[in-house]
Amino acid sequence: MSHSITKRRLAAVVASALAAASAVTAVALTGPAAQAGPKTPTLRSEAPRDLEVGSAVWGQRELIGYDRKHPTEFQRILGAEFGSLTPENDMKWAELHPEPGVYDFSGADAVVAFAKANGQEVRGHTLLWHSQNPQWVTDASAGWTCQEARDVLEEHVRTVVGRYAGEIYEWDVANEIFQDDWDAGGVRLRTEANPFLKACAEDPVALIGDVFRWAHEADPAAALFLNDYNAEGVNTKTNAYYDLATELLADGVPLHGMGAQAHLSLQYEFDESVTENFERFADLGLQVAVTEADVRMPLGDDGEPTAEQITLQTERYRKLLDACLDVPSCSSFTVWGFDDARSWVPGVFPEGYATIMTGEYVKKPAYHTLLDGLRDATPGTGPRTPPVPAR
Ligand code: XIL
Repeated sequence: MSHSITKRRLAAVVASALAAASAVTAVALTGPAAQAGPKTPTLRSEAPRDLEVGSAVWGQRELIGYDRKHPTEFQRILGAEFGSLTPENDMKWAELHPEPGVYDFSGADAVVAFAKANGQEVRGHTLLWHSQNPQWVTDASAGWTCQEARDVLEEHVRTVVGRYAGEIYEWDVANEIFQDDWDAGGVRLRTEANPFLKACAEDPVALIGDVFRWAHEADPAAALFLNDYNAEGVNTKTNAYYDLATELLADGVPLHGMGAQAHLSLQYEFDESVTENFERFADLGLQVAVTEADVRMPLGDDGEPTAEQITLQTERYRKLLDACLDVPSCSSFTVWGFDDARSWVPGVFPEGYATIMTGEYVKKPAYHTLLDGLRDATPGTGPRTPPVPAR
């Protein structure tokens, strides 16, 4: 017997959750709003006032030519469900800066324009990373002095952050700058894979600090983040981030947040120390964020998850959200795409079913648990922590 959940069963789970959701809405609505008819709640409508709920989106593929009067189904859902967008690729070097002195802002502009049209915020991603750099950076970096690397990076950061100044609430300034336990040399700054850190390997922390300073000068209003995978719980990598953050803050660097990507797989245990980890960064005075959540899993020959896998996925999405809700400094919770048809997972891992909706936009139990979690955190649309009463 196959353990995989049938489409009909999934549809039934979804239907009952939806019915429950609209019943709550019907009860909650009184007064003039009730006469307008109950509106289907969305992640965005249920989110606490002090938490952005977002999705990644590839502007170049999905948003160029957006017509607000005739949105695609994907665009309609993106606008309805999320209060924040992260350009999945459009603000990476390879897309934005394909040749020296040549910028292509078309994809990034499309994300910012869509967000504006739909009253959404934008999370910038990313300025300093070892991956998705254009060929010219890879080629030139072989001969860079530290000063040459700094000049190239400074020009890029000031140009990009300056262009979107005032339109981006959070920026992933430095992405994946630490190696993992399992890499040669263990957890340490990526002074080999990252061309900029490599050129400045004598003092990579000074360079990192300056990237934050340049970004802050270009857009003083944006909250500036470190961001990484395997950075959810307390572990050797987040210990290294904690030490780096402490050092940067002591140097007066405008560092404002620590992002945990949260690309989870059911192949690995869930680290239950997410709240504890978030709290220690919050205690440094930083914001924290879940920046790229998805929960992937190996699928059977039929390409379907089992009922047990669906339950586990649902629990993990909820645990990530709860950690964020529990720590008032957690300012945004972003999923890395919302539908399986556009998920990066199958292209990179032998796994799938990672997002909160199927490829046909059927909301999974993971979607419903996020909706419930957001609603439970804030009856109405207040902040998740009530204001401290005046003494
Ligand atoms: C991924 C995108 O989703 C893919 O489309 C692209 O081909 C590779 O990058 N960590 C990050 C993201 O910080 O930028 C990555 O996004 C996923 C892992």
